Amino acid sequence: MEKIGKNGKPLRHLMTPLDMSVEELEELFDLAEKIKNDPDGYAHICDRKKLATCFYEPSTRTRLSFETAMLDLGGKVIGFSDASSSSASKGESVSDTIRVISCFADICAMRHPKEGAPMVAAGRSTIPVINAGDGGHQHPTQTLTDMLTIRSLKGSLDGFTIGLCGDLKFGRTVHSLVNAMLRYPANKYVFISPEELKIPSYLRAKLIEMKVDFKEVERLEDVLPSLDLLYMTRVQRERFFNEEDYVRLKDFYVLNKKKLELAPKDMLVLHPLPRVNEISVEVDDDPRAVYFKQVQYGVYVRQALIVTLLGLV
Ligand code: CP
Repeated sequence: MEKIGKNGKPLRHLMTPLDMSVEELEELFDLAEKIKNDPDGYAHICDRKKLATCFYEPSTRTRLSFETAMLDLGGKVIGFSDASSSSASKGESVSDTIRVISCFADICAMRHPKEGAPMVAAGRSTIPVINAGDGGHQHPTQTLTDMLTIRSLKGSLDGFTIGLCGDLKFGRTVHSLVNAMLRYPANKYVFISPEELKIPSYLRAKLIEMKVDFKEVERLEDVLPSLDLLYMTRVQRERFFNEEDYVRLKDFYVLNKKKLELAPKDMLVLHPLPRVNEISVEVDDDPRAVYFKQVQYGVYVRQALIVTLLGLV
């Protein structure tokens, strides 16, 4: 049965990119482009609305991007950026917290180190809940950001050879992006990682079942000439069980100017950020490096998402 939110409209959450159909995603991206091209036209659409950012895990981009998005739509922002400054530190459950937040705000973006925590919150909420990253599981708004960037800069989301490089085991942005892009059937995937950081077995099984064209390799240099898109990722220190393994693997890949010479002239280099050492700073000036443009697209797509989930369009 459809749940009605406290604003009297059907209640929708975003837990994974698959919560939106391909058609809905296209509408969302079109709206994001409209907002990008006409910011003044949307500057008051969220007047008197409040966004709560409930971040139980550190963030720079996602939280501030959500907050910028809401402020630029005319809304207001409340929230916390650290579990220790919330009543979670006194033992309050996510379910109770969201019931309280539902009294204060109109929409909530939640990041949590535990996989599934935003989904638990969504089950008790009377306002839309957006998963802003849950453990090593999903990061749907990063995926929307990545997809809008690709669509805007390449003109399409289909027909590409996509390289994903680095920590493919713990990298939630990789899991979310691949799951979403699988709905565009002409894409091929090259997973580039050390043995220990290969894609999770559930994802490999899904790729095989769907008869997707993919391969898993270790050397970035060997596959660079064949890629249309290269999605670099950080080795996720916070998800390792021991420091020794992290230290051994953290600099396994370093994309520098010399390696980039092997890549096509129109390949895009994406990265969800934060970067540590996996892309040399010297690469930043290469026109193929679009990871800072990606951040700006993240604001537009979050604006479009807020407006859509609040039922304002
Ligand atoms: N891309 C991303 O999720 O960055 P933050 O951890 O800084 O939010």
